[in-house]
Amino acid sequence: MTASSFLSALRRPALVGLFACVASSATFPVIDPDLKPSTPGITPISAVDLTRSSSDRLMLTVDDEPFFFNGVQLRADKLYDVWDDGFTVINSQISWLSIQPDTALNASESTFIRGGSHASTNFAGETSSRIGYRTGSEVDKYLTYLKFDLDGYASADITAAKVRIYTTTRAWNSKSFRANIYGITDNDWEATNITWTNAPNHDGVDIDGTENEDYFLLSTSPTWDSIDATGYYDLDVTDFVVNHLSDDVASFILQTSTNTTSTAIGVTFDGALGTHPPQLLISNENNFDWTYLDNLVKWTEDAGLKFEPVWFGSESTGAAMDSRVPYYVFRNTKVEKINDDGSHTPVFKRNSDPAYGTYWFVMDKNDLTTRKQEKAAVLAMMNHIAEYNAANGDKRTVIGVDVANEPAVQRFHGSKFSAWQNPETWGALEAFDSVQDFVDRTMWEFCVNLANAVKESNYPVWTRANNYWGTDAQGVVYNELMRQNGGTSLDFIGLDPYRSNVADIFAYGHKNLTGQYYATGSNLLMVMENSGAVDTADVLPLASLAGGSFYNLYELYGPDNFGLYIPADEDSGDYTPVDRSDYVQGVRDGNYLLKKIAYDLATKLPVAAGGTGLAFFNVLGDESDISGSIRSIDISYETEDSGVGIATERSEREIALLSTQAVNFTLAGLASYKVRSVETGYYRGTSWVREDVKSFNRNGEDVQISLDALDCVRVLVRNEISK
Ligand SMILES: *[C@@H]1O[C@H](CO)[C@@H](O)[C@H](O)[C@H]1NC(C)=O
Ligand SMILES: *[C@@H]1O[C@H](CO)[C@@H](O)[C@H](O)[C@H]1NC(C)=O
Ligand SMILES: *[C@@H]1O[C@H](CO)[C@@H](O)[C@H](O)[C@H]1NC(C)=O
Ligand SMILES: *[C@@H]1O[C@H](CO)[C@@H](O)[C@H](O)[C@H]1NC(C)=O
Ligand SMILES: *[C@@H]1O[C@H](CO)[C@@H](O)[C@H](O)[C@H]1NC(C)=O
Repeated sequence: MTASSFLSALRRPALVGLFACVASSATFPVIDPDLKPSTPGITPISAVDLTRSSSDRLMLTVDDEPFFFNGVQLRADKLYDVWDDGFTVINSQISWLSIQPDTALNASESTFIRGGSHASTNFAGETSSRIGYRTGSEVDKYLTYLKFDLDGYASADITAAKVRIYTTTRAWNSKSFRANIYGITDNDWEATNITWTNAPNHDGVDIDGTENEDYFLLSTSPTWDSIDATGYYDLDVTDFVVNHLSDDVASFILQTSTNTTSTAIGVTFDGALGTHPPQLLISNENNFDWTYLDNLVKWTEDAGLKFEPVWFGSESTGAAMDSRVPYYVFRNTKVEKINDDGSHTPVFKRNSDPAYGTYWFVMDKNDLTTRKQEKAAVLAMMNHIAEYNAANGDKRTVIGVDVANEPAVQRFHGSKFSAWQNPETWGALEAFDSVQDFVDRTMWEFCVNLANAVKESNYPVWTRANNYWGTDAQGVVYNELMRQNGGTSLDFIGLDPYRSNVADIFAYGHKNLTGQYYATGSNLLMVMENSGAVDTADVLPLASLAGGSFYNLYELYGPDNFGLYIPADEDSGDYTPVDRSDYVQGVRDGNYLLKKIAYDLATKLPVAAGGTGLAFFNVLGDESDISGSIRSIDISYETEDSGVGIATERSEREIALLSTQAVNFTLAGLASYKVRSVETGYYRGTSWVREDVKSFNRNGEDVQISLDALDCVRVLVRNEISK
């Protein structure tokens, strides 16, 4: 097919209504009866062409043109100077919290008071604070007073609020305990002059005054998060901050439980003068901040690349992390374990590395309130991207959204748990034949809800999700089933294999890779994350493409230490990115080589995956696959240096040859079709850009061409090559 007929085939309006297709009589149990896959209301920016009518592969298209995806994920911001490495796409985490940040206010005043012989002592000069209690011992009783200045925050701007403290010791005497937090309406106290004797709202044991007028018990630390180790502890104070402030100041008293105890209970934590002062975090569902997203889009745009947000929403990497989710969402919904005594415990974990947050919960993917909130946030993000795009020259930089990163329904990343039911939201379980069916449907509804936001927005693009190896809801089979029975808005699902073995990555695109079978139905194949810190990183993208899968590297440079780049000298604080090893140049070289035939890679299925016009040579590096054919021409690839070669059928008279290393290609019998020209150069789209004339040898009717490393050679013949 010629390029122009190819393109006009692509421009058929059918692309717009990709999902409005098959109606079926089959019915499937559902959880949210109102959820239906959405189709774009306007011409999409990007899509997956499933028709296979103008090409033998499932194609990614941007602006109706085939798009060659060769991506890299980016964790750090200051990498501008290393972006020009030949990738075509940058993808980067956009956490829900990064577009809806909570505001953290340090305590404006705070101190503790102590009974007994310290009843008239003021402790405002101390860097640490305390709460404590021991039955019958005045000197072992401590309360902490906290004050936050909320001037400038209307209650309408606050959807949720929590107080966070940082304990610097373990619970005293190794006795974990539960803490109470009270809101008090008396704001006249001053940290510098309160003492046990004169501080308001306590009688030496209990908080006093009129409950729900002078003071409000806001929360007690739950049994599953009693105060024990050093670290952050959060206490919800939403009701008080939203409904009961007497002026623009929020005052609190923090207290241990007052259970009878003969050994002192309590803990020491950072006070207002400490390293981690008590904070009030306020969260506002109407507040959006696009700074971070806009920066990433702008940097990508300046580098001439395309961008995909990787949405880190109510769950990312199998957990809801408080470092990624605004508090107003985070407090809502957790999957709960039902204990023998009927009490509920969230599936929860405390994390010690602050880079990944403090609290992790398994979020309930069936909570329809969370789904609604999250869809609204993604819709707002996409509509913002539409506005940004319109205001910045319509460059259409954003071309896709990864709606869920390594998600799971009922387990933390990498951990296995048995199924839990949340009785309030898992009511539909009975309608399913098995828990696994329910889990598959849960994951699908969760992803489709987010994908719908993308499709319904003013900036529709393709949607995808990436699985980790062994997630509890792989989703590919179910998504394909839905595609055939009413449609899906989740365009494709991929795997993060984290395999360095070249044969595995080659196999992924067309084979069952130890139970990870993604090559089914109309699921476009993509390796969505694979380490850049392995010395096969230069060959893996080629192996992936040769096997039938697009490739996305994790990552360019970042704290997970999977990057192509590492800090020049971390010990001395020099974070200048430098190549991790020699192979990094091979990655760059490979990327630039692939760009020379990007159009063919975007549009042709490789031979190994069932195609005919795109042959790879020696991807396994062991010379087991050094012969192939294009039309009726047998091609052999002679390498001394474990190079990888590519041959592609451009038309019935045109073959392109490429190689990562200096090699000889032999094209058997080609001379009988009368060689017209052999040139080095590259393709821009489907147009050939000539750089030089290339000499070749004839041996009978065979044509032998020696390629230099990273050459792309075009061979034209006068007569149509037979098939
Ligand atoms: C809160 O206190 C910490 C530690 O002193 C400080 O680093 C941070 O900037 C403060 N935050 C605000 C909003 O003042
Ligand atoms: C603390 O001092 C302020 C004046 O600086 C005063 O208004 C307040 O009543 C004093 N509080 C106590 C508990 O003594
Ligand atoms: C009081 O003690 C009981 C029994 O040990 C315990 O179950 C409860 O959680 C404690 N209450 C608080 C507020 O610590
Ligand atoms: C893939 O392999 C696994 C075992 O490794 C098997 O259970 C599964 O049925 C296979 N899937 C397909 C589609 O062949
Ligand atoms: C290519 O062939 C020539 C002779 O035909 C030979 O000298 C050269 O070593 C070969 N190069 C490679 C990379 O195999």
